[in-house]
Amino acid sequence: MTLSESLPPTDAAGADPTVPRAADAHAAAAALDATEAAALDLAALPADFAWGTATSAYQIEGAADEDGRGPSIWDTFTRVPGAIDGGHNGDTACDHYHRWPEDIALMRHLGTNAYRFSISWPRVLPAGDGPLNAKGIDFYDRLTDGLLAAGIEPSVTLYHWDLPQALQDRGGWPERDTAEHFAAYAAVVAERLGDRVTQWATLNEPLCSAWIGHLEGRMAPGSTDLTAAVRASYHLLLGHGLAARAVRAAAPGARIGIVNNLSTVAPATDGDADRAAARRMDGHVNRWWLDPVHGRGFPADMREVYGVDLPERPGDSTAIAAPLDWTGLNYYFPQVVTADPAGPAPYARQIDRPTAPRTGMGWEVDADGLEALIVRLHEEYGARRIHITENGSSYPDTVAPDGTVHDPERTAYLTSHLAACTRAARRGAPVAGYYAWSLLDNFEWAYGYDKRFGLVHVDYATQRRTVKSSGRRYARIIAAHRTP
Ligand code: FCB
Repeated sequence: MTLSESLPPTDAAGADPTVPRAADAHAAAAALDATEAAALDLAALPADFAWGTATSAYQIEGAADEDGRGPSIWDTFTRVPGAIDGGHNGDTACDHYHRWPEDIALMRHLGTNAYRFSISWPRVLPAGDGPLNAKGIDFYDRLTDGLLAAGIEPSVTLYHWDLPQALQDRGGWPERDTAEHFAAYAAVVAERLGDRVTQWATLNEPLCSAWIGHLEGRMAPGSTDLTAAVRASYHLLLGHGLAARAVRAAAPGARIGIVNNLSTVAPATDGDADRAAARRMDGHVNRWWLDPVHGRGFPADMREVYGVDLPERPGDSTAIAAPLDWTGLNYYFPQVVTADPAGPAPYARQIDRPTAPRTGMGWEVDADGLEALIVRLHEEYGARRIHITENGSSYPDTVAPDGTVHDPERTAYLTSHLAACTRAARRGAPVAGYYAWSLLDNFEWAYGYDKRFGLVHVDYATQRRTVKSSGRRYARIIAAHRTP
């Protein structure tokens, strides 16, 4: 298939009629109604703001058995009966491995100037620490060049959950060697792409790898063992620090960050038990991940809650606290919690507030939480540059008979959360970029393909891409920011 054949429907001038082009910036700005433009306060954002979209390798690439890619823990986990809704897997996903030129064209249609994607470790090093797979790294080389040619800054995440199965077979993240292999892999990628990529993230959401993958068992590798989970959390953060050092050595101009998913945490009641539960949950989802990388060590109260000895060695805390050029914040929902003495650590659980609006994931919608977390990163942790590396919503989309996808709820989620970013910027937080999750509908982990987060709809039977109305709105917002 040629690129022109694979583009969305175009008008006579060759543009997707559903998306404003850069040249239409004035018209696009006018298309934002005055109330919305005022609420968004786009002037609060810096002129070089990164307007991006985000994806990850296993969720979109497909081509699981092609060009020498090795298996990852997600190839294995998706074969566990009952692990994934619908029995889905990432074998084909959005076929981005073959359709990346079309997907870059979509990014251009949206007017984005940044794209966050992840590198599949087992595509590059099929055995995790073995020989380089030239065809695997070549793919990311082409993608990087394609993005740069389109005027889109590549933002590379080195690890978005797809550990090579060969390393899992040797113990995975609970073992220290995995952190060292991760740094070696990071060096290989940085040596190849570091002349063109400056924006690097080590890990995506280590919380999910450690707590959901090793304690709750709802993600790969699917274990439910507190000791393994705590050891995994430690080695993930050690791996982050060692990889940061390795990337800096290979690519001196690199700007390095880590991506955490954070939540605001409030007690369900004013009682002592719920307030203590909220403190533990804040430790579990926020402080455990933020404190060590900011040089404060692992929080003492949470060490006590877990009661697991950390596999610490001299020098580790300095490695983990490698300087950060930027901080990545993934935000989806707030948490209201109550004490749960019988539950797994942290002995607190989220409750549903019956009146709260929710997305199709059942996640509570609360844009103020995003503002609060940005300000917290700025004020409490002194973050130098903050990128909202993921934010978005899943709703059950339908394709209208005329082929369009109208998604007003996702559009409202997008605009309310962008307004939260601009409020945080007005409060002095260094908000440097926003990456909508996601460019495309994709493989949503344990939920399979039924949960759709894309600004662009994917028909999995035909791989046809259709820009949703939320995507068109995003394009208008971006164009409005560029138009003084
Ligand atoms: C985040 C993940 C991302 C996606 C969104 C919905 O936790 O980083 O891959 O699944 O949630």
